[in-house]
Amino acid sequence: MTGKICGTGSCVPKGVWDNRKLMELVDTSDQWIRERTGVARRHIAEKGETTASLASQAALFALENAGIKAEQVDLIITATVSPGELMPSVSCLVQKKLGAVNATCFDLNAACTGFLFALNTAQAYLAQGIYKTALVIGAEVLSNLTNWKDRSTCILFGDGAGAVVVSAQETGKFVQITHSVGEKGDVLTCTCRNQKIYEKRADAPETYMQMDGREIFQFAVSRVPEAIEELLKREQMNIGQIAHFVLHQANERIVRSVARRLNAEQDKFPTNMEEFGNTSSASIPVLLDELNRKGMLKRGEYIVFSGFGAGLSYGASLMEW
Ligand code: UT7
Repeated sequence: MTGKICGTGSCVPKGVWDNRKLMELVDTSDQWIRERTGVARRHIAEKGETTASLASQAALFALENAGIKAEQVDLIITATVSPGELMPSVSCLVQKKLGAVNATCFDLNAACTGFLFALNTAQAYLAQGIYKTALVIGAEVLSNLTNWKDRSTCILFGDGAGAVVVSAQETGKFVQITHSVGEKGDVLTCTCRNQKIYEKRADAPETYMQMDGREIFQFAVSRVPEAIEELLKREQMNIGQIAHFVLHQANERIVRSVARRLNAEQDKFPTNMEEFGNTSSASIPVLLDELNRKGMLKRGEYIVFSGFGAGLSYGASLMEW
């Protein structure tokens, strides 16, 4: 059995912060942010918009798109590094909101690679015949983890959620490669904003996201093409057979560089960080939903997903649409 994506959905907060708004917070410019990252705007959660509420709405849209009832879902996995609370899991909150009473629910943290790892995990359950219909969600309210006084990070990130319904089918293809490099973990960190350190020292920089941007940039532009090449080589496939490369939307220059290194056509690498910034585990499913709703994905085409981020971690998956 193989899991096929039969529905997608996404939900972002209503509030939009453009680069001008960030110029009020830190010493930066619209030009610098656009040129160095490709980001023009990001959606930022307001009161009442939580990781679980965004995830639930994205999941609801995905179920509607798939024509599947919540009771038919037997697995919910949410990838997130920014749950509103440590317990219960975002997945259980989604279950409650949707009435997906038959689902087994848990969250997974692999930072910006989270959606990829969650999709792989769901696929493994479906391939084993353990579950038939999974909801895989990437959802973040990164604005809660962002240090709005730190220009080296705050210009990048945004909030949002994306979801896919994956259902077990007799035919189809899904293969994946993943890697983790724990020894490089200190280049992207965030001690928990929910822990006691936060109560004692609310402004302690280490409780916010901290990042060595250059190091991660280099990591991404070398490891992502390596992972994609490794995967294609193993499957005896070539770049030309892939219709779309849906990459984590961290920085437009990273996506362009990966395409160049693979000698692939740039227009096979869609981007949307201009509108949403880097939404970590939500970025891949939000982009996928956009492509799906625009009718850009055709059944039988091959799509490569690739993510990278804190851990450090990275990987690539190949799927028949
Ligand atoms: O989702 C996965 C996690 N994160 C990532 O993927 C991030 C990957 N890295 C990046 O996207 C980029 O490294 C950044 C966008 C974060 C930074 O871009 P960069 O081209 O690597 O800039 P830099 O850190 O090398 O800084 C270049 C210059 C510095 O000034 P000097 O030393 O050359 O005078 C910085 O102080 O730009 C300065 N700078 C800024 N200037 C205006 C850094 N941040 C800003 C800013 N506005 N926001």
